[in-house]
Amino acid sequence: MPLFTILTLFPDALEAYLDVGVVGTALHKGLLDVHCVDFRDWTRDRHRTVDDRPFGGGPGMVLKPEPVVECVEWLEAKYGTHRRLVLDPAGRPFRQADAEALANEPRTLLMCGRYEGFDARIYAELDLEPVSIGDFVLAGGELAALTIVEATARLVPGVLGDARSAVEDSFADGETVDHEHYTRPRVWRGREVPDVLLQGDHQRIAAWRAAQAAERTKARGDADRATPSKPGRNP
Ligand SMILES: C[S@@+](CC[C@H](N)C(=O)[O-])C[C@H]1O[C@@H](n2cnc3c(N)ncnc32)[C@H](O)[C@@H]1O
Repeated sequence: MPLFTILTLFPDALEAYLDVGVVGTALHKGLLDVHCVDFRDWTRDRHRTVDDRPFGGGPGMVLKPEPVVECVEWLEAKYGTHRRLVLDPAGRPFRQADAEALANEPRTLLMCGRYEGFDARIYAELDLEPVSIGDFVLAGGELAALTIVEATARLVPGVLGDARSAVEDSFADGETVDHEHYTRPRVWRGREVPDVLLQGDHQRIAAWRAAQAAERTKARGDADRATPSKPGRNP
């Protein structure tokens, strides 16, 4: 069973989300385990200080090395070594293939930064893998950590009602996005379900879905290339 250990200053905020939906089901079925650990508990001063001003000046605060590293050393001594990921907008993009890999990893550490992030020496000391969930900046790593836990939980055998869902989802092959889906009513506000889906010819349906997925994958690539990286500027 994969174990995620999430290092955060806001464990309570995470617990509520972890209790519902696919992740909640996986936890209750014993197919996944998630520990949220508050590294503030590893501070030694009266004010429980986790951050300090940046050397060299500038805005914001930086997370101090001592409590974070001592916390990781304690939990690895207790639960065993983890694959160590740190949430970081500058990290490599987290993709579906990473979620597949984590579903087979016994223990993964997800370190959630706040403020300007972690002191850079923590990365070297703990040999961290920085990962990003997109080219934008959140206020903290918690939503990114939940994203990773949920993307992984769906791929743990037994978590989804029908295992085919994950295999047929977007990015299962690293690139192709899913085809469109339709349900009843057959006509809604004048919009009809494509005829091919109503005929019961499974070969034709499979061919239509494959063609549709290819078309949507291309359209997504085209839209991405056409999106300026900065407003008003085309690449
Ligand atoms: C305000 S951000 C720090 C931003 C950092 N100074 C920078 O510009 O790259 C605080 C924390 O949020 C998390 N975070 C923000 N955006 C993220 C993203 N796109 N992916 C993963 N983590 C993110 C990281 O853990 C980060 O340490």
